[in-house]
Amino acid sequence: MTTTVEILNKFGRSDLMDLCEAAEAAILDGGGFGWVSPPDRAVMERYWRGVLLVPERVLFVARLDGTICGSVQLVRPSRNNEALAFSCQLVSQFLAPWARGHGLARQLAETLERRALEEGFHMIHLDVRETQTAAIQLYESLGYNRWGVNPNYARIDGKMVAGCYYSKALRTAAG
Ligand SMILES: CC(C)(COP(=O)(O)OP(=O)(O)OC[C@H]1O[C@@H](n2cnc3c(N)ncnc32)[C@H](O)[C@@H]1OP(=O)(O)O)[C@@H](O)C(=O)NCCC(=O)NCCS
Repeated sequence: MTTTVEILNKFGRSDLMDLCEAAEAAILDGGGFGWVSPPDRAVMERYWRGVLLVPERVLFVARLDGTICGSVQLVRPSRNNEALAFSCQLVSQFLAPWARGHGLARQLAETLERRALEEGFHMIHLDVRETQTAAIQLYESLGYNRWGVNPNYARIDGKMVAGCYYSKALRTAAG
């Protein structure tokens, strides 16, 4: 079984379909990916095509034996925001349930961190529902520090769910 992680700039043969299927499976499993239930396939396809077009976003995909099974995105601050230019965000990380436990989420996050460093960022921010215990375990093991909790972060099936805010310093403000 081979596991790989890469930046995706262009969809190869079955990449878009595989990415949609992996995202749908993760959403049905309880997500953490914004969607509470999977949207129509056409909407999902437009979403991923859009991600590749947004200049502030970098899409990283994980593959198991060549098939895309998960992803994460680096989001740069908008170019007019000089005050936030030192930091970027890690968003929308997921692995399809069938691809979990192979270290791919860790590899995705570490690859994103390396890219953030290369781009000169000093800090990565992320937020996650407090119910996503595997993700919280992963980020804390990678050295992300929890600095806040929003009790009204998400609404899932009519109930409010808290969200945890994390940051990781990649280097000191002085570089
Ligand atoms: C979080 C998630 C991406 C982990 O994917 P994964 O491929 O299984 O993770 P890995 O195999 O790379 O494991 C990395 C670490 O995650 C943590 N982890 C993974 N599964 C876990 C579980 N079931 N319980 C507790 N911690 C877990 C561990 O710290 C693990 O490190 P270890 O193997 O050294 O113990 C996956 O569970 C997922 O997609 N969850 C739903 C979406 C989500 O919560 N996204 C985050 C919101 S942005």
